[in-house]
Amino acid sequence: MHKIAVIPGDGTGPEVTAEAVKVLDAAARRSGFEYEAAHFDFGGDRYLRTKEALPDSAVTELRGFDAILLGAIGHPDVKPGILEKGILLRLRFELDLYVNLRPVKLYAGVETPLKDKGPAEVDFVVVRENTEGLYAGAGGTLKRGTPDEVAVQESINTRKGVERCLRYAFDYTRKRNRRKTLTLCGKTNVLTYAFDLWERAFHEVGSVDYPDIKRDYAHVDATCMWMVKNPEWFDVIVTDNMFGDIITDLGAMIQGGMGIAAGGNINPATVSMFEPIGGSAPKYTGQGIINPMAAIAAAQMLLEHLGESDAAARVDAAIAHVVAKKLKSMQAGKMGYSTSQVGDLVAAAVAAL
Ligand code: IPM
Ligand code: MN
Repeated sequence: MHKIAVIPGDGTGPEVTAEAVKVLDAAARRSGFEYEAAHFDFGGDRYLRTKEALPDSAVTELRGFDAILLGAIGHPDVKPGILEKGILLRLRFELDLYVNLRPVKLYAGVETPLKDKGPAEVDFVVVRENTEGLYAGAGGTLKRGTPDEVAVQESINTRKGVERCLRYAFDYTRKRNRRKTLTLCGKTNVLTYAFDLWERAFHEVGSVDYPDIKRDYAHVDATCMWMVKNPEWFDVIVTDNMFGDIITDLGAMIQGGMGIAAGGNINPATVSMFEPIGGSAPKYTGQGIINPMAAIAAAQMLLEHLGESDAAARVDAAIAHVVAKKLKSMQAGKMGYSTSQVGDLVAAAVAAL
């Protein structure tokens, strides 16, 4: 019996999460596994009520689950940063979810802005370091608000933190078993301290423990260029927290948009958290027009992570079927179906395929 914590969150988060849970239910019936879900109301509304983003007990409680399904965090009435730092980043840090795994996969029938590229070309995975770098919160300000103001924001890169992320990426590349190529995305020509550490660890770990995996390197700016021009060059990309944040939004666009892009915040040893990467999209809230496919894809990753490979494969096939044969567009309001109808279609496909 899997124990799954569900955090629907803000904006359209609850709408898309409901569809992901619908699909999880269908997968459980079809593949014959059992799970119990507990819902948590963390998010902007609760914060506005209680002035607390996340109670301390929440982190302890969440550790007791096998996986977490998160909708979206971000509320128009809460100052930017409070919920992001207080909920999303806090869970990443305190649960030590050191990998952010973001597949960039273009399903057949989904429109990409890239000319002459299709599913065969857009199919790679980004392993983003998720607990260090510029996100660690190191730095400070001096003389704030004066003409002499100083702001320092430091990138923290520890050998341990970098190495465990690299090892995850090498293992993932091996398991994925495609081109067996791991590309380190960095900026060794300018960030000569941080990416010196990354580069040395990359080649040391790779040459000793992963001789079967080809090692490649690209600067982050060049990575952006290749993602648009030759995305087929990539198999798995590993990078730091900030670069990973940026290149995965670009990745989401070439795979068909925020309506389909999902990710997992992973610690292989404990609880992991899966989420659509698009955010709470407040302007679409409550209209039943948001695309739930990204949340459904997050549930698919969650199943994979729990070892429910049969269910994960069925949900993947169901997503592929529905996006290819049913949806007119991935964009909110243009799908040809409502949010819950899309969930129904995927659930039906899980049962039928
Ligand atoms: C993401 C988001 C978060 C990040 C924000 C909401 C803090 O953009 O998951 O990519 O920067 O990591
Ligand atoms: Mn982001």
